[in-house]
Amino acid sequence: MLKKYYKKVPEQKIHKELKEKYANFFDTIIHIDWNKILFNRVSFITAATHKFNKCRYLEIGCDNNWCFSSIPLASKIGIDPDKGGNVKDTSDNFFKNNKNKFDVIFIDGLHVYEQCRKDVINSLKVLDKNGFIFLHDMTPRNWAEENVPRLKGTLWTGDIWKVAIELSKTKGIDFFVINADFGVGMLKKKEDNIVYYDEFEKLKDLKFKDFLNLNENINYISAEEGIKKIEEY
Ligand SMILES: C[S@@+](CC[C@H](N)C(=O)[O-])C[C@H]1O[C@@H](n2cnc3c(N)ncnc32)[C@H](O)[C@@H]1O
Repeated sequence: MLKKYYKKVPEQKIHKELKEKYANFFDTIIHIDWNKILFNRVSFITAATHKFNKCRYLEIGCDNNWCFSSIPLASKIGIDPDKGGNVKDTSDNFFKNNKNKFDVIFIDGLHVYEQCRKDVINSLKVLDKNGFIFLHDMTPRNWAEENVPRLKGTLWTGDIWKVAIELSKTKGIDFFVINADFGVGMLKKKEDNIVYYDEFEKLKDLKFKDFLNLNENINYISAEEGIKKIEEY
């Protein structure tokens, strides 16, 4: 599905010093201009919050509150150990003590596979049946956006696409990646107890070139289809 956006790039201008080390990562990019798709994460999250009376909303990773402050709810919880939100802590610490249940959870904390999968597993336990989880930055367009650790001066999705691979195989949920705003993962919970499909050992060392092959296992939908699905649930 993403293959139609693949573009061969013979010369990558950025990060020349890493070019030799990552030689085989360079020749293909995914050519999507996110600015041309005007729906963003706030559109999908807001549409989902409207499905619930007094929606219980949790955001993991708030930064400067661009999303958190835009969600039209008077009462909401935002976790960030650095800045933004209203709970200054890591997601791991928050989940250790949390007794609340949620209807909509937005996971946008540390964009490293191991942490993001932990955030998803913990979130699934406190998400009500019929709740939604959204995840930001599921579609890296080039090796630099995907690289862990983050490279200076680049946009960064990290390698959380690996979570999308696992969620695509997880039973008891619907899972899509919406083609907007760096790839917005949308999970709809359909059963009470979800067993996360674990492929950690297989996925942990994979890189952007592997994403180019493996993304065919992910169900991508357009922004319009995403909104329609949320409305129809
Ligand atoms: C991409 S920003 C969030 C942007 C915000 N959600 C938005 O849509 O505008 C990522 C944030 O995650 C926070 N973060 C990093 N590690 C975290 C952790 N372990 N738990 C919660 N938040 C974390 C960072 O401090 C940073 O502010």
